[in-house]
Amino acid sequence: MKTVGIIGANGVVGRTLQAEFKKIKTPFEVKLLGRQDEVPALDAAVFCTDNPDSARLYEQLKDRIGYMVDMSAHFRQDPQVPLVIPEINPHAITANTRLIASPNCTTTGLVMTMAPLRKYYSLTEVFFCSYQAISGGGKKLLEEFHTAGSLYENNCVPLIGSIQENGYSSEELKGIYETRKILELPKIKVYPHTVRVAVENAHSLGVTLKAKEDFDLALVKQAWNNFDNLTYSEDIITPKQANGQETTYACRLRADVEEKNIIHYFITFDNLLKGAAMNARQIIELLLEKYL
Ligand SMILES: NC(=O)c1ccc[n+]([C@@H]2O[C@H](COP(=O)([O-])OP(=O)(O)OC[C@H]3O[C@@H](n4cnc5c(N)ncnc54)[C@H](OP(=O)(O)O)[C@@H]3O)[C@@H](O)[C@H]2O)c1
Repeated sequence: MKTVGIIGANGVVGRTLQAEFKKIKTPFEVKLLGRQDEVPALDAAVFCTDNPDSARLYEQLKDRIGYMVDMSAHFRQDPQVPLVIPEINPHAITANTRLIASPNCTTTGLVMTMAPLRKYYSLTEVFFCSYQAISGGGKKLLEEFHTAGSLYENNCVPLIGSIQENGYSSEELKGIYETRKILELPKIKVYPHTVRVAVENAHSLGVTLKAKEDFDLALVKQAWNNFDNLTYSEDIITPKQANGQETTYACRLRADVEEKNIIHYFITFDNLLKGAAMNARQIIELLLEKYL
């Protein structure tokens, strides 16, 4: 029987992944590993750790673990490392792949709604403003949120990650570069704006998308509803409803008041599921079926 480890099993993503692994039909043995544990030889492992820990763990463990899935941002822009959402680009994993990066949660929701439209439209520009949940910042941010006087209490905070030299936040830059890599659209213009809001779980984004061609709203809705784990709702969907769901929801689709090649819409999805642990579970399922 194959063994698959969850490294960082006690973090927010690690705990969610423990529950996600129970959905995998192929039998395998799970090893739950925290900071103090010695990591044994494994067929595969998911690193549910932050950037520096993932980088260190990779160097320490690469000769002991067959396939590694990393949740952090550390390897995502490495051209040798596929950045994978199984509904979108499973082909990025090949027989030679040993390390796979799972994308940023906000970017994941965005590209889930862009990918089905690529077949019909040449997408040229996307603007988004995010309304990101506290759980996206891990267990420390959740603890802080539940402490009296937290900055996040009854508030929205227009900074996620750290401010870079060009004035963007690190989260916003992930939105640009990860969108391009996952969709294999290296020239698409991405205008990101990321904000943390006082919602415990499930991210949302307001999106404006531009193509070379005029959009047909009925076709957009149909393409979304035909795509795995994506649903268009004629009703308003809020993060409260997306919490705990595997579906990415889109709603409020409308044509621009002036330009027919621009649409606007709202999306909401569970950042710990499709934005993290569900995506990792789907990658492990793919590895168990094809490579392990
Ligand atoms: N939260 C989200 O919505 C989300 C979405 C997409 C991607 N991600 C990414 O997923 C990763 C995990 O995020 P998170 O939200 O779960 O963070 P978290 O709640 O802070 O969990 C991180 C876990 O890693 C553990 N850890 C650190 N070094 C370790 C080591 N050497 N060996 C074993 N475990 C170690 C920590 O252990 P201790 O408990 O001892 O501190 C902690 O339990 C991050 O890279 C994050 O950017 C998160």
